[in-house]
Amino acid sequence: MAVNPKIEELRNKRALSRAKGGPERIKKQHEAGRNTAQERLDILLDPGSFRELDAFVTHRSHDFGLDKKKYLGDSVITGWGTINGRLVYVYSQDFTVIGGSLSEVHAQKICKVMEMALKTGAPVIGLNDSGGARIQEGVVSLGGYADIFLRNTLASGVVPQISLIMGPCAGGAVYSPALTDFIIMVKDTSYMYITGPDVVKSVTHEEVTHEELGGAMIHATKSGVCHLVAENEMQALMMVRELMTYLPQNNMEDPPFVPTNDDPLRADAELDTIVPDNPNKPYDIKEVITRVMDDGVFFEIHPYFAANIVVGFARLGGHSVGIVANQPMVLAGVLDIDASDKAARFIRFCDAFNIPLITFVDVPGYMPGTIQEYGGIIRAGAKIVYAYSEATVPKLTVTTRKSYGGAYCVMSSKHLRGDLNLAWPTAEIAVMGPDGAVSIVFRREIDEAEDPVLHKAELVQEYRDKFASPYVAAERGFIDDVIEPRDTRARLINGLEVFQNKRDSNPARKHGNIPL
Ligand code: HXC
Repeated sequence: MAVNPKIEELRNKRALSRAKGGPERIKKQHEAGRNTAQERLDILLDPGSFRELDAFVTHRSHDFGLDKKKYLGDSVITGWGTINGRLVYVYSQDFTVIGGSLSEVHAQKICKVMEMALKTGAPVIGLNDSGGARIQEGVVSLGGYADIFLRNTLASGVVPQISLIMGPCAGGAVYSPALTDFIIMVKDTSYMYITGPDVVKSVTHEEVTHEELGGAMIHATKSGVCHLVAENEMQALMMVRELMTYLPQNNMEDPPFVPTNDDPLRADAELDTIVPDNPNKPYDIKEVITRVMDDGVFFEIHPYFAANIVVGFARLGGHSVGIVANQPMVLAGVLDIDASDKAARFIRFCDAFNIPLITFVDVPGYMPGTIQEYGGIIRAGAKIVYAYSEATVPKLTVTTRKSYGGAYCVMSSKHLRGDLNLAWPTAEIAVMGPDGAVSIVFRREIDEAEDPVLHKAELVQEYRDKFASPYVAAERGFIDDVIEPRDTRARLINGLEVFQNKRDSNPARKHGNIPL
């Protein structure tokens, strides 16, 4: 049967829009180890679920030969689809079309899906691969970026926003991903920076490569801009699918419940001996986490940045939880500027999206020294206090060992509206460690003793017996119960069920003023 010419025209337009930049540019993209915008969406979304919007939009510029470079849909593909059956909005910048550069209509397409996401309460996932503002469009393009930034900000805390960086992301363009909740970068093929190596050289005379300036590992380890690093694009896209399983669709919903065969009452005898007898010997808090959580699964966020604190998602009895844990293996788990930034942002994400917080405490205090003081540990350290204090999701805390000084107050303590505060018998909750405490309180007495070393050791032991235990805090009710480590999983799951419908609120106000 003859095809209606109007339908034929539509099919031709669609085919053109799919092939966009043409075979040469697609080949170049593939040779660089990068997929095209459409191929990425095909991997990310459930098969057949993608519905494209604005496929017939073209740019409006005639300057510098752009009238001869018109592509259906311009340099971004937008629409919606599903991940594990749940609605998401997506945009995928097409580097094969004018370098994925952001034109007026490119920005309008992105804004449209963001507005739909806000209206319908679904996450937004942005796949970034772009040469930045379309040079030929000038200020119109810059305005387009600002329009996106505004919508990123308005959507913050309402729907989850995830950014993948899959090619260049330069100049002011970095601020859209920076405003979103998670940034995932691909090793070797993606980079983010405010100005590229050439500008850096002319301004500061530094010689630096793209990778050294803004590659995935740099942002994962040094700046903390990047939350997750993928070896390749496929892994990056799979990470998004996995991350989504822990998140609700929006701030009015709960995260998905994922049934498990892992027994909620499962006891783990290994936990009873995981904390070494020597209080200065480290152990891996991630082992505690995986032993307690459903099926031993822990989806760590920011694994390479400020590794002295561990954050990430897991499930307990099928419920999605956010975990914050001091890591004794790195800098003895001390709180420093980066750790405070990392934890505070994660806590606030969980609180915004109704994900209960589980905190494991083993912390010797805040990091001393000029580097930290000059860098603003007072300002940065306050963020984590603020974040825990304002959080109204269920907050469950397990102190495994040290909880000293200000860090005791901070780490989801009872005083900051901790709902269930448990401690292992190995917990030491005190103003400071025995050695420091004794040196300050008994300095003269130790100096004057016949055998100062022996006398100090006796005093340390006395202090340890008296204060370095969970029982002084438990006598006050600051610790609700001292538990056997093996029972941690059962006690946390029980606690989650008890507190899942808790009601807590903050005073009415426009917004608080978190120290930034
Ligand atoms: C218009 C652009 C473009 C741009 C790339 N192209 N960037 N067109 N505006 N910003 C075009 C190229 O002309 C080329 O077209 C095609 O895209 C592919 O680019 P190539 O240079 O051939 O690719 P490659 O060698 O891989 O280099 C990629 C690149 C480079 C490093 C991104 O293109 C580049 O430096 N672009 C400019 C980056 C930049 O400075 N952007 C402005 C940042 S400031 P043809 O037709 O030859 O295939 C900014 C401000 C935002 O974005 C402010 C927000 C507040």
